[in-house]
Amino acid sequence: MALPTINPTTTKSWEALQNHFKNIKDTHLKDLFLQSPDRADTFAIKWNDFYVDYSKNRIDETTKKLLIDLAREVKLDEAIHSYFTGEAINATEERSVLHTALRTPSNNTVLLDSKNVIPEVTAVKNKIKAFCDKVIGGELKGYTGKPFTDIVNIGIGGSDLGPAMITESLAYYKNHLKVHFISNVDGDHVHQHLKDLNHETTLFVVVSKTFSTQETLSNATTARSWFTKRASQEAVGKHFVAVSSNIPNVTKFGIAEENIFPLWDWVGGRFSLWSAVGLSISLSVGYKNFEALLEGAHEMDEHFRTANFEDNIPVILGMLSIWYNNFFGAESEAIIPYSQYLHRLPAYLQQGIMESNGKSVDRNGNPVDYQTGTIIWGESGTNAQHAFFQLIHQGTKLIPAEFIGFKHSLFADKDHQDKLMANFFAQTEALMNGKTETEVVDELATKNLSESKVKQLVPFKIFTGNKPTTTLLIDKLTPKSLGSLVSMYEQRIFVQGIVWNIFSYDQWGVELGKQLATNILSEIKNSQISAHDSSTKKLLKQYLN
Ligand code: F6P
Repeated sequence: MALPTINPTTTKSWEALQNHFKNIKDTHLKDLFLQSPDRADTFAIKWNDFYVDYSKNRIDETTKKLLIDLAREVKLDEAIHSYFTGEAINATEERSVLHTALRTPSNNTVLLDSKNVIPEVTAVKNKIKAFCDKVIGGELKGYTGKPFTDIVNIGIGGSDLGPAMITESLAYYKNHLKVHFISNVDGDHVHQHLKDLNHETTLFVVVSKTFSTQETLSNATTARSWFTKRASQEAVGKHFVAVSSNIPNVTKFGIAEENIFPLWDWVGGRFSLWSAVGLSISLSVGYKNFEALLEGAHEMDEHFRTANFEDNIPVILGMLSIWYNNFFGAESEAIIPYSQYLHRLPAYLQQGIMESNGKSVDRNGNPVDYQTGTIIWGESGTNAQHAFFQLIHQGTKLIPAEFIGFKHSLFADKDHQDKLMANFFAQTEALMNGKTETEVVDELATKNLSESKVKQLVPFKIFTGNKPTTTLLIDKLTPKSLGSLVSMYEQRIFVQGIVWNIFSYDQWGVELGKQLATNILSEIKNSQISAHDSSTKKLLKQYLN
C-alpha cells in the first residue's frame, strides 16, 4: 500500500484549525496558564528518562485535539505501518526506508520483500564489533607494526554529519583513539588534518554510500597519495577501509572487499549513522556504547510506533511544528541543547530535517500551495544566549524554540550544572512571560534615574513574551539517551512529511548544483568558459585571471 496522498489543507481538521487559530492567536501564554493552572501536567509526557514539557506552547486542549485529528485525517497511522513494514515509501527512488531495522534487536524479524533483513544487519554488526575490538585493543596494526592512534573519517553529508555529531556528543565515553573528520572538498580541510598525522598509525575510513561523491573521492584520493608518498602501495590495504553499498567502485579505488563494511539502499544517507556509517563512532567509543546508542533509538522507535498520538513524543512535537509553520507562519525553529557536547546537533539536524522536508511538490506530483520544511538553526546554550537570543526575545519574528537539557552533568560539577540549568529554566520562563511596562518602570525606579531617563528607557526594556518553547529534560547524556533523542527527531521528520503530503526520503534538490559544478570544473580545467549568464561568466573570468 502506497503512502496516503491527502492534501492536508482540504481536511476538516485543517479548516477547524484555521478557525481555532483566529481565536487563540492573540492569547498570551501567561493567560493560558491562568486559565488552566494544571497545563504543566496536561501538556507533558514522561517517557523513560525523558520529560517533555510542551505546556509553554501557544495551544490549548482544543488545539491539541485538532492537531491530532489532522494527523488521523491524513492517515498518519497507516503511514507509520507502511514505514515500519518496509514498503517502498521512498517512491521516487523506489526504495524502502528501513533505518529502524538497523536498531532492531537481532532476535526480531524485519521483512523486506518477504526476506528477513536482520541476519544481514547482524552480520555487519558483528564485523564492526570484531574490527573495532581489534583496532581499539591494538591487535590490528599499521604496516610498520605500530597500533593505530588516529582514525580519519572521510565522507560528507550523512556520511560525515552523523558520525561527527555522535562522536563529539559522546566524547566523554571515548577511548584513546583520536577521530578526525574530513568532509569539505576544500583542499585546506584535508591538508590541515594530514599535516599533523603520522601515516604509520593512521587508519582512514572512507564513507560513501554511493562511492561516487566528488568531495569524498577527492579527499580519499588525496589521503591515499599522501600515504603512498610515505609507504608502499601494498601498505594501503592495512590503512584504508570503506563503508559503502557500491562494492565495485570501492574495489576500483583499491580497497579490498574484506575491508568493506556494506550498507543497503534502504538506508538513506542522512539516517545512516546507525549502520556501518557509524564505524568511526564505534571506533571512538567502543562497540558496546554504539550498541547502547542503537538500543536507545529502538526504544524511541517502539514508542513512536505504538504510543497513542496524544502521548507520542514525535507526533506531538511534529504537530506543534506544523501548528507554528502553517498557522502562525513561523519560518524557522531553534534547537538549543544545554550541553556543550551537543553543539553539533543543530548542524546535524539541519541535514536531517531540511534535506528531508525541504520539498515543494506533493505526493501526487503537484506543487504545494502551503508551507513545508521549517528552517532549523541553533547552538548550544548558554553560548546561544550571548549570540542570538536577543532576536528571539525582542525581534520581530516568531521563533519556536526547543530546549534540551540534562538533569545530571557528566563530570558532576554541581556548581556549573546548577548555573547551566538555572539559565536553561530562566530562558523559557523569560521567553514566555516577558516583562511588562509596569515591571520595567518598577525596576527602573530602584535605579535612581531621572524621570526623563526612565521614560526614554522603558520601551526598550519591555519584553512582550509569549514566545513558545518546548523543554526536553533528560536524565543524563548517555549513548542510550542520545540514541533516543536522535530517533525522536527522525520520527518527527516522518510525521511532518506525512502531514505535508511530501516525499521525505529523496533529495533531488542537491543534484542540479552538482551537475553544474561538474560542467564548470571541466571549463576551469580547460580554461574555456562556455555559455553562462553574464554574472557567472564574469566571475569565472575573474577566477581564471
Ligand atoms: O548531496 C546529498 C547527499 O546525497 C546526502 O543525502 C548524502 O548524505 C551525501 O550526499 C553523501 O552521499 P554518499 O554517502 O553517497 O557519499
